[in-house]
Amino acid sequence: MTKTSKPKDDSPAVEPTENFTELPADAGLRDLLIDGLKDIYWAENQLVKALPVMEAACSNAALSSAIASHLEETTGHAARLEQIFALLDEKTQAKKCDAMEGLTKEGEAVIEDTEPDSVARDMGIIAASRKVEHYEIAAYLGLKSLAEKLGFTKVAALLAQTLAEEEAADQNLSNIADSL
Ligand SMILES: [Fe+2]
Ligand SMILES: [Fe+2]
Repeated sequence: MTKTSKPKDDSPAVEPTENFTELPADAGLRDLLIDGLKDIYWAENQLVKALPVMEAACSNAALSSAIASHLEETTGHAARLEQIFALLDEKTQAKKCDAMEGLTKEGEAVIEDTEPDSVARDMGIIAASRKVEHYEIAAYLGLKSLAEKLGFTKVAALLAQTLAEEEAADQNLSNIADSL
């Protein structure tokens, strides 16, 4: 009888990933991180669809350009998450985020309930958008902290970049509200 089992170490070296081999006891934490990444990935993609509607509905030029530039960043956030999935050697996957679905519906309701070209509509859009940013900030804070706990420093650094952009977007919306 010949042995058919192949030596396991003859496969080509994989790309550097932030894998999990050193921390088997924390498998639950890794699952939590992956699950949260799928949730926020769905949320970012939902925003890529929702932000153009907000941008079209507002009348203030500064607000419209803030939304347009955050839309560009949002596309980058989704791409950054894809990069993170790759680093973790996980398939890029979205999992429906009920919270973000609700928040974007609230934004649509603001548009329905206010007059075009009114300060009320712009203020409503800002308020709805800030709720979105605060959800994202909370999500990224939680994910960053999980990544740090797991020792995934590259992932944590990427999450921190997005977090900083969400915080800046929120601050920018706040400044625009003050100027209306
Ligand atoms: Fe985002
Ligand atoms: Fe955002």
